[in-house]
Amino acid sequence: MSFTKDEIAARGHPVWAEVDLGAIRHNIRSLAALAPGAEVMGVVKGYAYGHGNPESARAMLQAGATRLGVARVAEAIHLRESGIEAPIHVFTEPPPDAARTMVALDLTPAVYTERFARSLSAAATEAGTAVGIHLKLDTGMNRVGLLSDDVADALRLLRDLPGIEIEGAWSHLAVADVPDHPFTRKQLELFEDLTGQITASGIDLRYRHLANSAAALSLPAAHFDIVRCGIASYGLWPGPQLRGSADLRPALQLKARANLVKNVPAGAALSYGLKYELERPGNVITIPAGYADGYPRPLSGKADIIIDGERHRVSGTVCMDQFMVDVGEKRFEPGAVVTLLGSDGGEEVSAEELAEQIGTINYEITTRIPSRVPRIYLHEDDG
Ligand SMILES: Cc1ncc(COP(=O)(O)O)c(C=O)c1O
Repeated sequence: MSFTKDEIAARGHPVWAEVDLGAIRHNIRSLAALAPGAEVMGVVKGYAYGHGNPESARAMLQAGATRLGVARVAEAIHLRESGIEAPIHVFTEPPPDAARTMVALDLTPAVYTERFARSLSAAATEAGTAVGIHLKLDTGMNRVGLLSDDVADALRLLRDLPGIEIEGAWSHLAVADVPDHPFTRKQLELFEDLTGQITASGIDLRYRHLANSAAALSLPAAHFDIVRCGIASYGLWPGPQLRGSADLRPALQLKARANLVKNVPAGAALSYGLKYELERPGNVITIPAGYADGYPRPLSGKADIIIDGERHRVSGTVCMDQFMVDVGEKRFEPGAVVTLLGSDGGEEVSAEELAEQIGTINYEITTRIPSRVPRIYLHEDDG
């Protein structure tokens, strides 16, 4: 659900995410320029990495992405119900019972097991249609996909199954965020070899795709026909070594309004566990956001927030719905806007910074922001 700032205030939401759809469009254009021979797939699984759907998906399509990628059929259903007609790839096979839904909604399935191929074939035949599948090859990540030795058998099976057309073949890179990693070269060679075998068997592969954001940014040899861009579409970097490698703008900011400001005496301690003790009297702001808003508890005592263009450290433990910040002698009024993630004045707290503080990746920082945090979409209509 998207809200205006007034609706957010009227509903009493103390914390919200601002998503700049103009930044998403800009990022898609930057990525498309880096991969001129390829289509761009906007990867919008995980509620568009926390940025929200269908708005993020629509922004990507407006900027030239030609297709979308999700992990689950339910995510694709949501996009179709929102009126999105572009091809939607579902990256993993769902339980076979979902095959009918996939055919009915004209989704593009990844296929790598006989069981699922047979259920798709039955659903397509029943509907009197053919479904274009993308054969998922495992080139070394050992997650999902056909192992090299099983490709020939799979082709024999698929050729005989009615209602199935092999439209594409694809794989996923395990370490593309580390440029020049030798394993990526190996995966690329195996992918070329396997797709060569498929073509040699007489199948006209319209689409081959391998690149995620990292490879879209740094490995043109892996671009093939489609680049599947998730994290970079949102203006975030796939890994530390790729930071600054393209013109990208972060799209999401997490903000809250200070709830209470009070002067706390020297010697008092704050929050669960009493882990932060004031050595002198100080103004303490209570910020109504916590780990139920996707602000992880391990940020306690580590993260900075920004108020009025200045950084202040989280003081003590982050609770489920609130945390505190000792701002010393500074004075702020209740209602002051606090930036938990994003920029204010010359300061920026990035998803990368928060991720490093708690030993995770930027992907998890934005993706964890749950639906109880309303999204405000900026630049929804400016093309
Ligand atoms: C199969 C597949 N392709 C592409 C992506 C997009 O990756 P990234 O967000 O690094 O661009 C993902 C995300 O994990 C994925 O699972």
